[in-house]
Amino acid sequence: MVGGLSAFAWLFWNLHTSLDPEKAMTNDGTNLDPWYDLYAERTAGLSASEVRALFAVASRPEVVSLAGGMPFVSALPTELLEGAFAKLMRDERATALQYGSGQGVPALREQILEIMALEGIRASVDDVVVTTGSQHALELVTKLFINPGDVVLAEGPSYVTAMVVFNSFQARVSHVAMDEHGLIPQALRETIAHLRAEGRTIKFLYTIPNFSNPAGVTLTWERRLEILEICRANDILVLEDNPYGLLYFDSPPPQAMRSVDEDGVVYLGTFSKTLAPGFRVGWALAPNAIREKLILANEAAVLSPSSFSQLMISEYLNTADWKGQINTFRGLYHERRDAMLSALAEYLPQLSWTVPTGGFYVWVTLPDHLDSKAMLPRAVRELVAYTPGTAFYADGSGRNNIRLSFSYPTPEFIREGIRRLSIVINGELDLLTTFSQTSPLATIPHKLGIITPPSNIG
Ligand SMILES: Cc1ncc(COP(=O)(O)O)c(C=O)c1O
Repeated sequence: MVGGLSAFAWLFWNLHTSLDPEKAMTNDGTNLDPWYDLYAERTAGLSASEVRALFAVASRPEVVSLAGGMPFVSALPTELLEGAFAKLMRDERATALQYGSGQGVPALREQILEIMALEGIRASVDDVVVTTGSQHALELVTKLFINPGDVVLAEGPSYVTAMVVFNSFQARVSHVAMDEHGLIPQALRETIAHLRAEGRTIKFLYTIPNFSNPAGVTLTWERRLEILEICRANDILVLEDNPYGLLYFDSPPPQAMRSVDEDGVVYLGTFSKTLAPGFRVGWALAPNAIREKLILANEAAVLSPSSFSQLMISEYLNTADWKGQINTFRGLYHERRDAMLSALAEYLPQLSWTVPTGGFYVWVTLPDHLDSKAMLPRAVRELVAYTPGTAFYADGSGRNNIRLSFSYPTPEFIREGIRRLSIVINGELDLLTTFSQTSPLATIPHKLGIITPPSNIG
């Protein structure tokens, strides 16, 4: 998979070349690729993300991977999917194996309305565009709006592969500060004012309001309203990305931003986390004018999203207890989150972390002197993997953060992974204490991540 390089060397190489904002903007330097001088300028933004590099190494069975955000698809009852497949082949084979509409299968779009209604969204079936995962919707919206140099606002930290897309269209990502209640409206106002004073063009705000990737925090209802107001006043489109909203642990998050703003929000949803990412089916819900352009862009890119996948999902939604299945996932991820938080409290009490109330991720803050990217090869040597915080910023921040994902490993593996991580982190802290005058723990900053674990975590 990684040619002559060992997986370890591949990881190490990528960690030193990926998502460096300076390197990402230029194509210069020497390269053995004979086509190097012919690539379009925008390919300079297509650097391998840390997450991608990690998959090569972390997929080795002996490594406990707390890195990737993979849903635990083994919890899906296979007989339901087999039943859907058999029925599809019997009754709808010709349609399932054929090209379809560029907007998506109408029956599935109806069912998507039902899903979005769970988060307060009322819409028409005409406004839904089915895409090849929400990742593709992200790319299509970016393609529609971004000229080189335009600004995309995004939480700091934000979803790594969204930033890869923004980079590949030569956008400048400007991060807006967040805390444990999500993106901070006043910081948004200030960032907009600052960028406008510099003469920059801001196209949209990309936000993950529920159980965000990577921070695991949720935007409050009051802030949702305030942020919509700010964006409306400044003619900035809101791109609301919501893969995790239905995966809450105790109570649902506030309703979607799109539920109160039809005209200013493009909403993205997906079946990847509530069903399975292998189908590659997501969707965009967009205001009328944008929706027309989205369909054209979708057709230009893929002709039509997979008829087969859409009909499989539609059949599953028709016949299975899909709400019950989402409940099963909630219980499973809740248990894994608890396992992660209690292992952190036991093995790494000197650190701080967010406490997600849904989704897949915990965002951990290390003492300021630790460098999570430099530490990663040592962690992999201890057979544990995480994603370094720098992957989630376009500007090199996040050096002393890591993202831990609890969605895939079992509670036992999560515990073992955190134990191994504590060996690495405590080793680094020992070194720092030995060679510096001040305690490294005195430098844990009081910002996102300073949350005491709740006492009810067993
Ligand atoms: C915030 C966010 N947006 C989009 C995606 C892409 O999801 P999909 O599988 O629907 O393309 C992910 C996947 O992890 C994600 O975390």
